[in-house]
Amino acid sequence: MHRAQHRLHSDVVLESRGLVNMRMKRPLLLLLLLLHLVLESQALRYNNYYYQDLSPDGNGNGEIYFSGVRLHVESPQTLVSAVQGGNVTLPCVYRYEPEVSAPRRTRVKWFWQPSTGETKELHVIVAFGSRHRSYGDFKGRVRLRRSTPGDASLVINPLLSDDTGRYRCEIIDGLEDESVTVELQFRGIVFPYYSPMGRYHFNFQEAKEACEQQGACLATFEQLFAAWDEEKLDWCNAGWLADGTAQYPVSVPRDACGGTDLAPGVRSYGIRHKTTDRFDAFCFTSSIRGEVYFLQHQLKLNFSEAVKECAQDGAQIAKVGQLYAAWRFVGLDQCDAGWVADGSVRYPITKPRANCGPPEPGVRSFGFLPQHLKYGVYCHKVRW
Ligand SMILES: *[C@@H]1O[C@H](CO)[C@@H](O)[C@H](O)[C@H]1NC(C)=O
Ligand SMILES: *[C@@H]1O[C@H](CO)[C@@H](O)[C@H](O)[C@H]1NC(C)=O
Repeated sequence: MHRAQHRLHSDVVLESRGLVNMRMKRPLLLLLLLLHLVLESQALRYNNYYYQDLSPDGNGNGEIYFSGVRLHVESPQTLVSAVQGGNVTLPCVYRYEPEVSAPRRTRVKWFWQPSTGETKELHVIVAFGSRHRSYGDFKGRVRLRRSTPGDASLVINPLLSDDTGRYRCEIIDGLEDESVTVELQFRGIVFPYYSPMGRYHFNFQEAKEACEQQGACLATFEQLFAAWDEEKLDWCNAGWLADGTAQYPVSVPRDACGGTDLAPGVRSYGIRHKTTDRFDAFCFTSSIRGEVYFLQHQLKLNFSEAVKECAQDGAQIAKVGQLYAAWRFVGLDQCDAGWVADGSVRYPITKPRANCGPPEPGVRSFGFLPQHLKYGVYCHKVRW
């Protein structure tokens, strides 16, 4: 019975492929067609993942049977972090089970749901064989990695400011489609920031603006926590966070910093009054767009000369956030103190060594200095 059913089914499918057996009578054909539909709907109902494949059964008698081949789609990494201006690969691989020997005509589609609260999915890329088409702002910035036959990973290069969100990789083979989603978030760096006017000078709005002027934004609690947890950020002055709280991270408890009775951690003053309370700020940046470099110049420069020399070089004096991002994500290492845009003097060290500050990597700061003093300068040049 089992076998007979398969044979009937095969005949009908063959018919639909144009290999119709002309000797069949019409009523019989109709009956077979009905049977086919019943079987088909059952197959769909019982195993959504399967599609039916016709192939010779391999024993040489040319008999045809159908077998369930399952299409698997997976992503080894469902949360991916990257920096703006860098490139990113969102993994997505598919395979057939059992393996199929002949290459199949598989369509790959990537969709994007922005993290800005958009509910609609937008097209990113559609690929079929070696042809592909990209859409909207993704035009010219996306491709499939295709490092192995089942590799449908999406490469975005460069990554722009608003590319974060939920990406969905959909693999389509005939009537079957399977998808996985990959979340893209920005990896960034948190840095403490205080006013040229001194410590604890910013109300909430001023703190927000100060971070923005340095190419950054106010950090969230999660970002500050991650900086404390992963980067051992230790800073003894409370700073505003995006949620309106004031907090500070302590890795090494000490008397001057809340005492030694408390465990290491992020200490919170809780929600503060946004206009009357004053603190420093914790800023977050995730952008390496453009290039930060130490300007080679024969003479040391005062602040206004420094601004001018960067402009002469087709650039701008670097913002604090840009210097931090270049240090953290590009490995900028320069043992020369230089002016930056807010009138502070700093230098980035990734490989600590003698005469270049403390034994830990970091962006060293001399703070805000009188602007007639002479130093080097860090510039930022936009590349796109
Ligand atoms: C992509 O980024 C990596 C580092 O994250 C870099 O080594 C590589 O050169 C970049 N590729 C392109 C094509 O820009
Ligand atoms: C920097 O030096 C220039 C002369 O090269 C001078 O005109 C300018 O006033 C100086 N700026 C400061 C802030 O001292």
